[in-house]
Amino acid sequence: MHLRFPKDWALPAAAVTPEPLYRLAQRREFLKTLGIGLAGAALLRPSALLAATAGFPAKGNPLYPGTALKPTAEEYVTSFNNFYEFGTDKSEPKDYANKGWKTDPWTVELAGLVNQPAKFDVNELVKKIGGLEERVYRHRCVEAWSMVIPWDGFPLAKLVALAEPKPEAKYVRFVSFNDPAHAVGQKEGNLDYPYVEGLRLDEATHELAFIATGIYGKALPNQNGAPLRLVTPWKYGFKGIKSIVRIEFTAAQPKNTWSVMAPDEYGFYANVNPKVDHPRWSQASERVIGAGLLGGRQATLMFNGYEKQVAALYKGMDLAKNF
Ligand code: MTE
Repeated sequence: MHLRFPKDWALPAAAVTPEPLYRLAQRREFLKTLGIGLAGAALLRPSALLAATAGFPAKGNPLYPGTALKPTAEEYVTSFNNFYEFGTDKSEPKDYANKGWKTDPWTVELAGLVNQPAKFDVNELVKKIGGLEERVYRHRCVEAWSMVIPWDGFPLAKLVALAEPKPEAKYVRFVSFNDPAHAVGQKEGNLDYPYVEGLRLDEATHELAFIATGIYGKALPNQNGAPLRLVTPWKYGFKGIKSIVRIEFTAAQPKNTWSVMAPDEYGFYANVNPKVDHPRWSQASERVIGAGLLGGRQATLMFNGYEKQVAALYKGMDLAKNF
């Protein structure tokens, strides 16, 4: 008999299907009943109006069956955001990222120490990669709040494979867009722009590292980093660079925006670690967004709960120094 075991990092199947996923399944069934294929489904979905619509609905992946953790209600995920390009208040990105800023069409570039430098339209890229899958991951901000998000997208390793890095490539540098005419935070200069992030190449090709083009079975809303963003669930959320335009392979460790702005407070690695506090607050616990005032705090997990999968990447490293 051929048995399939779920990946050990996949959060186990829920006794009760979380509501957004249930609705998604219902919609798929409904469309199937009507005999409407993918193209028809795209026409019916409101997300067809947003960027990077290729590949939806994401393929169900039998290896990643679901979650025992209830995904955070969608309204929190799409209205409580960090996206400094569109303001520093959590409520501002939802408003300002939807006032004239266009995320379709969108081109992303693979560059640097690679054999296959290329520029792709995002929808073409999704087709080339072979479609989308859904992954439910914990999401932990360095500011000590957390969510659980059902992402749609593809493994970053597939993109790295497309680029064919040269042996000298040891790091990946991600660059976000720069459009001060449409991004009020960039116009005001509230950070050094464009926003930049980086990973070691072995982190980038780890199976958990993910490029998201959607959430809750729909294209990413602008405020969540449309049309494509990085998701590294064992790291603090600031590594999850939004609205990427360039992915560059380098020999030297890239300088990431927050570590340049405040080197004593934010590092390159940004691994979630309850034992290494931020200089101005404890990281031992986190506020659960959407859990209400009473249910609202829980202990922080080492590597955000993905220790078994990623600890080997940091063997022998002093995590307090390499924060
Ligand atoms: N990417 C860009 N380009 N600009 C940003 O300000 N903020 C980061 C990260 N990616 C940010 C970004 C931070 S601090 C966090 S916690 C997450 O995005 C927030 O993602 P969310 O709004 O989808 O929860």
